[in-house]
Amino acid sequence: GYPAGYKHEPTTEFHHQHEMRLQQEAIENVATTLNTSNKIRLSIGRPLAESGVWSTSLNPANPTQILAQIEEANEEQVEAAVSAALAAQPEWSSASLPERATILRKAAAYLRSHRSEINAIEIMEAGKPWLEADNDIGEAIDFLEYYAIWAERLDTERLDSPAGETNQLRYRSRGVTLVIPPWNFPLAIPMGMTAAALVMGNSVILKPAEQTPITASYIVRAFEHAGLPAGALCLVPGRGETVGAKLVRHPQISTIAFTGSRAVGLDIIEAASHVAPGQTSLKRVVAEMGGKNAIVVDMDADLDQAVPGVIYSAFGFAGQKCSACSRVIVHRQIFDAFVDRLALATSTLIVGDPRDPAIQVGPVVDDAAFAKITRMIEEGKKGSELLEQGTLPDSDGYYIPPTVFVNPDRQSPLYREEIFGPVLTVERADDLDDAIWRANDTIYALTQGVFSRSAQAIARVANAARAGNFYVNRGITGAVPGRHPFGGFGNSGVGFKAGGPSYLIQFADQQVISENL
Ligand code: NAD
Ligand code: ALA
Repeated sequence: GYPAGYKHEPTTEFHHQHEMRLQQEAIENVATTLNTSNKIRLSIGRPLAESGVWSTSLNPANPTQILAQIEEANEEQVEAAVSAALAAQPEWSSASLPERATILRKAAAYLRSHRSEINAIEIMEAGKPWLEADNDIGEAIDFLEYYAIWAERLDTERLDSPAGETNQLRYRSRGVTLVIPPWNFPLAIPMGMTAAALVMGNSVILKPAEQTPITASYIVRAFEHAGLPAGALCLVPGRGETVGAKLVRHPQISTIAFTGSRAVGLDIIEAASHVAPGQTSLKRVVAEMGGKNAIVVDMDADLDQAVPGVIYSAFGFAGQKCSACSRVIVHRQIFDAFVDRLALATSTLIVGDPRDPAIQVGPVVDDAAFAKITRMIEEGKKGSELLEQGTLPDSDGYYIPPTVFVNPDRQSPLYREEIFGPVLTVERADDLDDAIWRANDTIYALTQGVFSRSAQAIARVANAARAGNFYVNRGITGAVPGRHPFGGFGNSGVGFKAGGPSYLIQFADQQVISENL
């Protein structure tokens, strides 16, 4: 699992004045380029007539500010993109694995050299606080470096070969991969899926999330700069329900790499099972979906660890992470002390425009998220007890106060559904068995954690956890490729872990050559 030569890309040290100044300058410079004349076009490796339909990318901290106009692909353009990707694939797949890995490393170098610029875009387009944006770029670089190393390892493997016979296992590319990412890790997630598909010799159609197309366009820039052949990566912006749904159903797509909500993931899995007449491959779907993740705080937990760990897991990037903590389950013996400290910590969080580096919680991504989360909080107040809400800036941005409920109604949507916002419920457990049962009482199985000083208690919670990623005495977000391969099971996803040793083989077909000499 740990390939020699792989090194996690460090986070930028913004506490150094020099780094702080560079990032501030990048925000000022980038801001001058983000306006209605900034146009992001469909890109398929050759010139194409405009569709004439444009959407916009907005700044969630200041939603009247248009950052770019985005071309929405029409049906003809979708067909042109699939043809371009199909046409580019044979040449691209004939490059050796080390050659393809080199392209990934060059793309990583591009991201490194444009890091503060891309950070600035994410800060304004996704509403990410500085460190959250910077970690997203770092994770994208990690995916490129990690998959480059693994691809080289996946070159032909010699199998058991008796005298007179040579048996070899090879990995063949599958054709065109469709990549459909969410907006919450707007560089790392689409980059991870794209890089994995490309390095295994597939061409890629990337349909970016509607909310973060400017950030996604840097994926195309990075690969163009790295020398990827034209057409091997096509950017096809558009709405999920139209352009996304059309591409998912296209008979010449072989693999679909999706990360997003459970509802859309299930729709894609179902649509991909239909086979059109003459379709030569059966679609493979890799789907990473949502979570309703819990942290257990045991009676002997160190509250100096547990309170900040829960606060960051719940409210980092305004709770808009599939890995975010949305339920805390606290042993009754420590419940009152924990809740007091949690309420105080929640009330002191600084909410505001993330261009300011002091901001801890930015806006949520768009008007739809704002309306949904606000509704869930208001509905929640009817059956659950509101403990604390943070303070809001005086702004028209999509700000939601960090919100904590205690004694939640366990049948309510607040408790059962993924909220994807800065909302947390706290419940009291009678003992550790009760806490374990509550933590697993969800259809999802993505992340989970425990704070405890007892090795025995930790082992009990870990062994019982229905969660793809389990964390002990730390927050439950921020998986690092190679260190914490990431992904869930249950209703949280199908497929091998991103940033893990098995991820790449999902983008290949295995072939065995047996030669009798
Ligand atoms: P979403 O499902 O609304 O959208 C994801 C992508 O799917 C977007 O690109 C969208 O345009 C596209 N899409 C929407 N409808 C479609 C359709 N009918 N056919 C094809 N494509 C369609 O999710 P989101 O709001 O962008 O992201 C938040 C969700 O992502 C949360 O549920 C979160 O838990 C999940 N997520 C999961 C992981 C993970 O690794 N498990 C990581 C990040 C986010
Ligand atoms: N990989 C992301 C995290 O761990 C979702 O927070």
